[in-house]
Amino acid sequence: MITSTQTFGTDQADPDETLADPMELLGLWLPENADELRPLMTLSTVDADGYPDSRNVLLSEFDGEALYFHTDARSRKAGELATNPRVALAFVWIELGRQLTVVGDAAPATPEEAAAAFAARSRYLQLLAWRNGADLAGLGLAARRAAWVAFAAEHPEGTLEPPPTWTGFRVVPRRVTFWRGDPDGPSNRVEYTRSGGGWEAVRLPG
Ligand SMILES: Cc1cc2nc3c(=O)[nH]c(=O)nc-3n(C[C@H](O)[C@H](O)[C@H](O)COP(=O)(O)O)c2cc1C
Repeated sequence: MITSTQTFGTDQADPDETLADPMELLGLWLPENADELRPLMTLSTVDADGYPDSRNVLLSEFDGEALYFHTDARSRKAGELATNPRVALAFVWIELGRQLTVVGDAAPATPEEAAAAFAARSRYLQLLAWRNGADLAGLGLAARRAAWVAFAAEHPEGTLEPPPTWTGFRVVPRRVTFWRGDPDGPSNRVEYTRSGGGWEAVRLPG
């Protein structure tokens, strides 16, 4: 039996059963792509000096093999990914006592996928993709809001295409770690690492 929650995905009935393919478990833990409430994940990249760099982004989609996020092509993260595609992702569902961490490689998503992700974004997030650049960042609050309101008035709901700077990345996992809390016992982690054509799983403390 699978236990279900409305927006935080589902879980295995028996968490001690090690599934052969962690993508199956990812599919249970992540919400449906059609769910408007997208999970937030901490995305870590590596900068030119080798320092990790983290920020939170929305998970746009999971296609059974890769996790997608979308951003501005002029952003620091996009610049870092152009020279080093290695990333880490971290999700936490505090209410469920679950953490999911992923290490993998990011590659550009197709224009079709990016366009579909833009179409699925809320009106506010579509406006943000258009009007959140360096030209407004240095203005005062009143000027920023005036530019926003004017842009929104010129572009009624449903008319916005993705801006040229809209870009998507698909992250293919090489390591996936599922952490479950247990109020009546120790937490438990199961970690999957790609090995040959399949996955190796190990149970870990902590
Ligand atoms: C709740 C929340 C959701 C966010 N979602 C995104 C997102 O999906 N894509 C994105 O590029 N930035 C998103 N941001 C902003 C990023 O955290 C970050 O500030 C921005 O992308 C610039 O990052 P960079 O300079 O490291 O590239 C979000 C921030 C918050 C707080």
